[in-house]
Amino acid sequence: MGPLNPAERFTPEGVRRFANGSIGHMVELRDATQADAHAIAIVLVRSWRAAYRGLLPDDVLDGLSVPDREQFWSDVLTTRPPHTRAVVATIEGTVVGFAATGPPLVQADRADPDLGDLYALYLAPDVWRRGIGTQLHAAALDRLRSCGFTRAGLWVLDTNERALRFYLRRGWTDTGRSQLDRGPGGVELHERRLRRDLSD
Ligand SMILES: CC(C)(COP(=O)(O)OP(=O)(O)OC[C@H]1O[C@@H](n2cnc3c(N)ncnc32)[C@H](O)[C@@H]1OP(=O)(O)O)[C@@H](O)C(=O)NCCC(=O)NCCS
Repeated sequence: MGPLNPAERFTPEGVRRFANGSIGHMVELRDATQADAHAIAIVLVRSWRAAYRGLLPDDVLDGLSVPDREQFWSDVLTTRPPHTRAVVATIEGTVVGFAATGPPLVQADRADPDLGDLYALYLAPDVWRRGIGTQLHAAALDRLRSCGFTRAGLWVLDTNERALRFYLRRGWTDTGRSQLDRGPGGVELHERRLRRDLSD
């Protein structure tokens, strides 16, 4: 098999080819730029469809829009709201994962200046369970610390067992708080609030 051209790299087959074999040492983490918005959107849509199939309605997942996500993250990466950070994981230049952090989005939580949120942590499904999520998670926590936060919170879909297991094994605890959020197309997202100290 020859090298992949840039367009092929964003296809499921392209990512799968990267995923074969040992890739841990090939992963690079860096701050995202506005130029990453398209690749980030593709990762988010593919990750949502794989992770939330059976948890959210099929029509919502099938209707997810790469251009909508791209526009949203392009705006964030261009305006760079204070204390907001975004990191990508790449393999040979191709974005395979994305994490974002910043001040809590729930207004009541913003009263606490020490508290930062992990907004998003998403990997292309072809590269799950290869340690990349662990690396990206560590990088996201570092970004929170570098912004001066000493504690972190996140919202996770209460049926997302894979992510809950991942977080609970990495120092997060369930606060017992829950919320009903709205996702794409107005879909109901029943979420749980996790928290974590950032001192370790
Ligand atoms: C949650 C998510 C980010 C985890 O990423 P990941 O890359 O699969 O995570 P890792 O590979 O680092 O760790 C997952 C498990 O695989 C194991 N693992 C890592 N490398 C492995 C390997 N080479 N072989 C077998 N298992 C491996 C890890 O030990 C870990 O198990 P543990 O949690 O019991 O310790 C990823 O599954 C994802 O993107 N999910 C969909 C999006 C999502 O739900 N995000 C959270 C929204 S709040």
